[in-house]
Amino acid sequence: MEHVTIFEVGPRDGLQNEIAILPTRTKVGLIDLLSAVGFEKIEVTSFVSPKWVPQLADADCLLRQIRRRPGVSYAALTPNLKGLDRAMEAGADEVAVFAAASETFSQKNINCSISESLERFRPILDRASEANIPVRGYVSCIAGCPYEGEISPSAVRDVSQALLDMGCYQVSLGDTTGIGTPKTISAVLEEVLRGAPAERIAGHYHDTKLNAVANVLASLDFGIRTFDSSVCGLGGCPFAPGARGNIATGTLALTLSAKGFDTGLDLVRLQRVENYIRAVLKMIKSSEQEERHELVPSDRH
Ligand code: HMG
Ligand code: MG
Repeated sequence: MEHVTIFEVGPRDGLQNEIAILPTRTKVGLIDLLSAVGFEKIEVTSFVSPKWVPQLADADCLLRQIRRRPGVSYAALTPNLKGLDRAMEAGADEVAVFAAASETFSQKNINCSISESLERFRPILDRASEANIPVRGYVSCIAGCPYEGEISPSAVRDVSQALLDMGCYQVSLGDTTGIGTPKTISAVLEEVLRGAPAERIAGHYHDTKLNAVANVLASLDFGIRTFDSSVCGLGGCPFAPGARGNIATGTLALTLSAKGFDTGLDLVRLQRVENYIRAVLKMIKSSEQEERHELVPSDRH
């Protein structure tokens, strides 16, 4: 059976968009449960500015508190050298830099232009390589930008190629707002794969328009064998208005299994984790609503 890698990004991409700040112990519990599902890779957090993403301000102590399972690579996002230093000190097994194919999104997301971001990433790749830490690259807005609209596949190819050339072991193509269709994703892959082998490219598809499964199926035809997903389909990007969660891990795993691919995941355990995290988030949301009701001044006075 041919293997497909599912890269679980829920604890990072999923939780970064939750407004209610989850206690670190809840996140640690979620990651420990995910570790037992059989993932090779789990993106657990981001070492970004806590002012930009307050939900992930606990990255340092979170990474120290998880129970590491042998065979699982615990990954984190690092936008700059400060983030890399923090990630290395906390013991990240691998890190990721994140660029965009849209200038406006780059500014909104990481406060610099695309070319400035690539220059900022170079020393991250150098220092990580000295420490034997693999670096993954992301390219956002591959199928369109929430601010600029259409994005050309050649812009995606150029940024992907730059990330691969500087040493990223893989580039994950992010349909950040989930507006891609099999047609637009295929056009992007056709362009990107002119210069890169399929094993160095991954699909990271948000499911806003419910096209993520179709986009995965189209990508399989291009030889893509790594997909990012989020437990329960949690998530979005705080800097991409309207973006919804990634393709749900359960949906992705079942889709791949139906297509005859092996993912190495324990699907029963996965289902249990999905039920658990749904229940936790429901509890947090309802207690948040109760708090809000308490805070709203009563008009009966
Ligand atoms: P900046 O404000 O330009 O940075 O932000 P700065 O260097 O001027 O620093 C400003 C302050 O932030 C300073 O603190 C720094 O120390 C601090 P102050 O002196 O004001 O107290 N700072 C940091 N603190 C902790 N860790 C750090 C760090 N860096 C600076 N690493 C920056 C630039 C990149 C830091 C900021 O824009 C940022 O953190 N952006 C992160 C945005 C983000 O996390 N977005 C979501 C992830 S991307 C995504 O979701 C897409 C993806 O899923 C794929 C897809 O779907 O397309 C990957
Ligand atoms: Mg994303």
